[in-house]
Amino acid sequence: MNENQSPSKIFLVREARLSDLDDIYEIEVECFSSEAYNKGIIGYFLKTPEFIVLVAEVKKQILGFVIGGIEHHGTRVVGHVYTLDVRKRYRRKGIGYKLMHELERCFLKKKASICYLEVKIDNLQALKLYEKMGYKRVRTLSNYYGRGAHAYLLMKKLKTN
Ligand SMILES: CC(C)(COP(=O)(O)OP(=O)(O)OC[C@H]1O[C@@H](n2cnc3c(N)ncnc32)[C@H](O)[C@@H]1OP(=O)(O)O)[C@@H](O)C(=O)NCCC(=O)NCCS
Repeated sequence: MNENQSPSKIFLVREARLSDLDDIYEIEVECFSSEAYNKGIIGYFLKTPEFIVLVAEVKKQILGFVIGGIEHHGTRVVGHVYTLDVRKRYRRKGIGYKLMHELERCFLKKKASICYLEVKIDNLQALKLYEKMGYKRVRTLSNYYGRGAHAYLLMKKLKTN
């Protein structure tokens, strides 16, 4: 597939495997440069059952991925989205939306009633996507990503239907 073709009808979303590590890391660096998660951390996410890593794939080529985790806040089960990355060439084709949608389904299967994430306040493309999906701003997290790099905490109630 080339970047002019729409992958929206043909890409599949599946659980990531450890053998996807190099591709996932390459995309993470493409998206976040020096702020990227290192390979060791991504490998840990892939190997640890509390984390969910999903990839969007076309013809064995990974175009994006999402990482989430299940947390227990008292008696409440909560989903936490750690990162969502789509290769630059394949953006704005519905891949980020689909990855998030499938991650939310995984959270629901694991009995989460809400999920949350942090996003830089100037990351307008991600904010648009999350708000389109029903995430609401809860508060601003000052200096969350380092000095002067503030984040919003976003939250969404998950529905079973
Ligand atoms: C944010 C990101 C994951 C979006 O992925 P994507 O596959 O391009 O998103 P989608 O095509 O599914 O877009 C879904 C909706 O999000 C919004 N959106 C996404 N990108 C947008 C942009 N550049 N400008 C405005 N709105 C945008 C739109 O509402 C879009 O729906 P529409 O195309 O019908 O208008 C992608 O831009 C990315 O990887 N960015 C770098 C990494 C990053 O910042 N991740 C988020 C960390 S919190």
